[in-house]
Amino acid sequence: MEDLERIRAEAMAAVAAAASLDQLEAARVAALGKKGSVSGLMAGLGAMSPDERKAAGARLNLLKDEVAAALAGRKSELEAGALDERLARERVDVTLTARPEAMGRVHPITQTIEEITTIFAAMGFEVAEGPDIEDDFHNFTALNIPAEHPARQMHDTFYFGEKADGSRNLLRTHTSPVQVRTMVGQRPPIRIIAPGRTYRCDSDMTHTPMFHQIEGLVIDEATHMGHLKGCLIEFVRTFFEVDDVPVRFRPSFFPFTEPSAEVDIGCSREGGELKIGPGAGWLEILGCGMVHPNVLAACGIDPERYQGFAFGMGVERVAMLKYGIPDLRTFFDSDLRWLKHYGFLPLDVPTLSGGLTR
Ligand code: DAH
Repeated sequence: MEDLERIRAEAMAAVAAAASLDQLEAARVAALGKKGSVSGLMAGLGAMSPDERKAAGARLNLLKDEVAAALAGRKSELEAGALDERLARERVDVTLTARPEAMGRVHPITQTIEEITTIFAAMGFEVAEGPDIEDDFHNFTALNIPAEHPARQMHDTFYFGEKADGSRNLLRTHTSPVQVRTMVGQRPPIRIIAPGRTYRCDSDMTHTPMFHQIEGLVIDEATHMGHLKGCLIEFVRTFFEVDDVPVRFRPSFFPFTEPSAEVDIGCSREGGELKIGPGAGWLEILGCGMVHPNVLAACGIDPERYQGFAFGMGVERVAMLKYGIPDLRTFFDSDLRWLKHYGFLPLDVPTLSGGLTR
């Protein structure tokens, strides 16, 4: 037991001197480990008389507790130090300016959706979403396209396998089902736009199996065709950044709107170059109309009381027109050279005040 004081001093010194968690662990093993100095003293207890053992045992237990407490104290000091060291090492200077030559680019589809959303958000529209995998009711039936309606053939739908009840899910062929989901889930007044992916079994120069649309829907007690026209004319002029672009509403047909129209914008093709603005030509950019009473009724909204308009447009199409991108399929080639040319700098976020495109 004469060793006790020496062992105690050595163990405490080793703990205090440990400069890392590894060194601290070594100090722990040297004192309290199976072959450690304190454990060695414990082993000596067996050779003692019962009285001696009692007294020595109590002192040894105290020593053990003392060393354990010192270990724990040193451990938390070292851990706090390691954290400080890491915080210093990983310091980020948030006042540094961004590097002007960012390598990544924002895809024109993302940029275009951002721009369109920004314009409609300023008019008080909220963004709504729905699933890519839809059912027959939301994609067709509720939109006044019943089972044998010819419009179903026009949609080139991707169907999933038959379910137990004989029905089949499908990949939504347009973003119009988000109209249905919104009207079923929320009471008027409603003012939403719904950007998203859409799918049709079609692939050639001007069609890809997956593409993007933006749907718009306004429902309240007073909105009429004049509001529809004003809203879309304002949108078109802001989006294309051409104040005097002619806009034409051409009568058309969609099962879910009555009356229905397609919107064309003016363009010129002088010198073989397509330019949006006053000119001899027209380009179709979206479909729209007053929501059909059957659609309102299918969504549980009283068509005697509520009315409103809807529209839908292809994102790739308006992006191609605005940014002069000639081939639809290149959007999905993942060609970095193309993205560098047509893509947008990540920090050039479109805003109405700062300009949609720079
Ligand atoms: N869903 C139509 C399509 O995919 C686009 C459309 C036209 C949506 C008129 C509408 C609308 O909401 O009113 O071709």
